[in-house]
Amino acid sequence: MSEKRAALPQVVSASFAAAAGPTGVLPAPSLPEVAFAGRSNVGKSTLMNALMNRHNLVRTSSTPGCTRTVNLFQTKCADGLELFLVDLPGFGYAQRSKAERKEWGPLLEQYLRERTSLRGVVLLVDVRRGVEQEERDLLEFLAANNPANRPALQITLVATKIDKLPVSQRKPAIAGVTIPGMPAIGFSGLTGDGIEPLWRRIRQAVGVLAADPIKAPSPAAAVLEKTS
Ligand code: GTP
Ligand code: MG
Repeated sequence: MSEKRAALPQVVSASFAAAAGPTGVLPAPSLPEVAFAGRSNVGKSTLMNALMNRHNLVRTSSTPGCTRTVNLFQTKCADGLELFLVDLPGFGYAQRSKAERKEWGPLLEQYLRERTSLRGVVLLVDVRRGVEQEERDLLEFLAANNPANRPALQITLVATKIDKLPVSQRKPAIAGVTIPGMPAIGFSGLTGDGIEPLWRRIRQAVGVLAADPIKAPSPAAAVLEKTS
């Protein structure tokens, strides 16, 4: 943790609110939600701590498979905005047994396809690994399973762990993490790089900031149109 930390966001409070495991259910929707998805160990929980400006509110681990439930964290910003940031179990740790069937695990699937208060999904990809079929499949799943009573989800692609690369390689590596029409935001849990643009995206997802007409990545459905 020796590298500089970027300017901090406007979070005034953040706390654990609820968790749902295989047998539990989440409380009824009350605030807009933005969820964090990606392979096990990619850094979802770490990114959430950084966004909430807390070191250990969300449990992280170097062992893949750390987060096994859907966890809601209530977050309040200085301007009064309140929302849930949602930590999701990772995918891709155990070899997918039925790869062609695009199964993400019952908990993750149920949350993504049924939670009507979900407004945005932040999809994390290791900058050294890039976007692979599993991430494309997840976007396809999201586009194909949006319930009728929910607006199209805003999707944000994040290239994580950029501090693992030499500074000179970071920019081109982040640029290489892309789905057509969807450039990635680079993030490092060590330096805090990426927190400000990510908060902008989150605020756009929950409707307190107008979408940037030039830079905003397309919603999942539009992305899939371009890739198919
Ligand atoms: P699961 O809950 O298992 O799906 O993992 P996760 O995606 O929540 O990952 P987590 O945040 O627990 O981080 C996994 C490991 O990667 C931990 O050892 C983190 O310290 C490390 N890590 C996460 N983000 C970064 C980063 O930006 N830079 C570096 N160097 N390490 C990171
Ligand atoms: Mg986790």
